[in-house]
Amino acid sequence: MRHQTAAIDRLPAVAFADAATAAGDAPSILNTQPWLWRVHPHRLDLFANRSRQLAAGDPQGRQLMLSCGAALHHARIALAADGWAAHVTRLPEASDPDLLATLVINGRAPVTMEVLRLAHVMRIRHTDRRPVSERPIPDVALQAIATAARAEGNLHVLTSENVADLGSAAGRAAVVEAGDAQIAAELMYWTGRARLPGTGLPASVLPDHATQTTVPGRDFGRAGTLPVGAGHDWAAVYALLFGDGDTPQDWLRAGEALSAAWLTATTIGVSVVPLSGVVEVGGTWHTLWRLLAGLGHPYLALRLGIADPEQHGPPARTPRLPLAEVVDTSAVPSGHF
Ligand SMILES: Cc1cc2nc3c(=O)[nH]c(=O)nc-3n(C[C@H](O)[C@H](O)[C@H](O)COP(=O)(O)O)c2cc1C
Repeated sequence: MRHQTAAIDRLPAVAFADAATAAGDAPSILNTQPWLWRVHPHRLDLFANRSRQLAAGDPQGRQLMLSCGAALHHARIALAADGWAAHVTRLPEASDPDLLATLVINGRAPVTMEVLRLAHVMRIRHTDRRPVSERPIPDVALQAIATAARAEGNLHVLTSENVADLGSAAGRAAVVEAGDAQIAAELMYWTGRARLPGTGLPASVLPDHATQTTVPGRDFGRAGTLPVGAGHDWAAVYALLFGDGDTPQDWLRAGEALSAAWLTATTIGVSVVPLSGVVEVGGTWHTLWRLLAGLGHPYLALRLGIADPEQHGPPARTPRLPLAEVVDTSAVPSGHF
C-alpha cells in the first residue's frame, strides 16, 4: 500500500520534469531561452529569467513573454501527449511578476492523434530564414494554422496591399535598429562567439547574404553561412498575432498562440519566420496597429510559406542550454525520479 502511494506521488513530478525538458525546444527571441522551470512534487512553475532579457531590443519584455508563452504551450502539449490533463494559472501572484504560470495535474486525459503529432514536431520545428518556394500555401493549410492560433489567441492574415505596408515598415525598423548602438551590440553578442554557450544564433542558421523578399527579415548585422538561393518570397503569406490588451499576460497568451500556429504549420509542411523588429520599433508598431484597423494590439508579424525544395535540407538546429540551466528539480526529493 505504501509502495502504491509512493508511485502515485512520483508520477506528476516526473511528468512535469519531462514536459519542462520538452519545452526547451520552444522558439525564443534570439534563442535567449529566457525561462526557468521549477518542478515541485505536485506543481510546475514557469519563471521569466530576466538575465536573458534583451535590455535594448526588448525593454518592455514583450518578446521575452512571447518566448515564455511558446515554452508554456510546448509544456502543455507534452503533458497532453503523455495523457495528463493540466490546469494552468497564468501570472498567479501579482506580487511576483516573474512567476509566469503554474501548472497542476487534474487527472488523466485521453491522448489524441493531433496532440501526438504536435508533440512529435516540437522536436523538429525550426526557423528557416531562406526564401520560401513559389508554391502558394493551400487555403486549407492557412485555415488550419489560423484555427490553431485562434484557439489560443488571434491571428490576422494580411492582404497583399497590407504586405507592401508591412514591407516598408520592416525596412524602416531595420534601419532604426541598425542605427541604435545598444541594439546593434546586443545582436552582435547573441550572434557572436562570446555568447552564452547553448544560446543565440550560430552562423549556420543565418543567411549568407540578404534574401530577396517583399518584407525584409531581421538584419542580424552580420552574414552567416547558410546558403541562400536566388528565389523571391513572392508566394509568402504574412500575418499578425494580435490581441485586446498590451499587458504581459496578453503577450504570454500570444506566445502560446505562436507555438500553436507554428507546431500546426510544421505538421503540414508550412515554414514560419517571426518578424519582431517591426513590433519593437515605436514608429513601425503604429503601422501594424493601423493595419489591424481596430482589431487590437500587434504582438508579432509572421512570414508563412512552403519551404523551397531546391534548398538542400533544413538549416542546422540552433543549440539549446544545458537542462540544468532551465529546469530546476531541486524541490523534488530525489526518490521521486
Ligand atoms: C518572440 C520571438 C521573436 C522572434 N523574432 C525573430 C525575428 O525577428 N527574426 C528571425 O529571424 N527570427 C525570429 N525568431 C526566431 C528565433 O530566432 C528562433 O526561434 C530561435 O533562434 C531558436 O531557433 P529555432 O526556432 O530554429 O529553434 C523569433 C522567435 C520568437 C519566439
